[in-house]
Amino acid sequence: MQILSAQVNETPFFRLSQSFKENLLFLFRFICDPLTMGSLFPSSKALATRMVVRMQPSIEPKRYLEVGPGTGAVTDSILQKMGPKDTLDIVELDPDLCRVLRKKYEACRNLKVYETSIENFESANYDGIVSSLPLNQFSVDFVETIFKKYLHMMKPNAFLSYYEYKYPKMVAALTERGKRLKKIQLLKSFYGEKHQEKIETVWKNFPPANVRFLQKNPVEIATA
Ligand SMILES: C[S@@+](CC[C@H](N)C(=O)[O-])C[C@H]1O[C@@H](n2cnc3c(N)ncnc32)[C@H](O)[C@@H]1O
Repeated sequence: MQILSAQVNETPFFRLSQSFKENLLFLFRFICDPLTMGSLFPSSKALATRMVVRMQPSIEPKRYLEVGPGTGAVTDSILQKMGPKDTLDIVELDPDLCRVLRKKYEACRNLKVYETSIENFESANYDGIVSSLPLNQFSVDFVETIFKKYLHMMKPNAFLSYYEYKYPKMVAALTERGKRLKKIQLLKSFYGEKHQEKIETVWKNFPPANVRFLQKNPVEIATA
């Protein structure tokens, strides 16, 4: 897609200073609210590229939703794969990040920023949802609410891609939080069994991450 505002000023120096500023802002937001941010740094290009691998070119206009865009690391990859008639809604909780996103993508006519928590966002009929929420930081009940909501918002056969960092599992057994992670893991596998699931590890990210893909099973629509 050609209307990425970041592309207007595409000198190498601009790109470098832009990504430095974004990393700094991300880190600052993490220090202010580590549980909501869930990570010290934005996703790497390698992780962002894997997250959008299910987006396919199509003649029909497609509707995409991104949840938890942060400073836009994955948004950039989504925009690169979108066709001219596709649209993207992005839902971000943090007002400072929303301000940055609105500025960064002000030239993108088919992108809308919604400043709210995903639990309060109402929309439907998405062809794909790309979620970067830090699920392992949330309670099991909240993860279940989010998954139900995602399935409700997806068209039959739509995809959901999301990631989780690999490191919490290594320390999981040692902590109370570990038990919660295990329960969340079980919950996610439950949805994975009902809807086709695939998992890929991306090592070129700090920390390395498992990217999970769900494809909504049309037969399960009534019970989702
Ligand atoms: C791990 S960061 C991911 C940022 C970015 N997508 C990336 O990969 O670099 C998680 C993002 O989710 C946002 N977030 C957390 N809880 C949220 C919620 N309930 N609704 C919407 N966004 C939320 C945070 O503000 C943060 O920007």
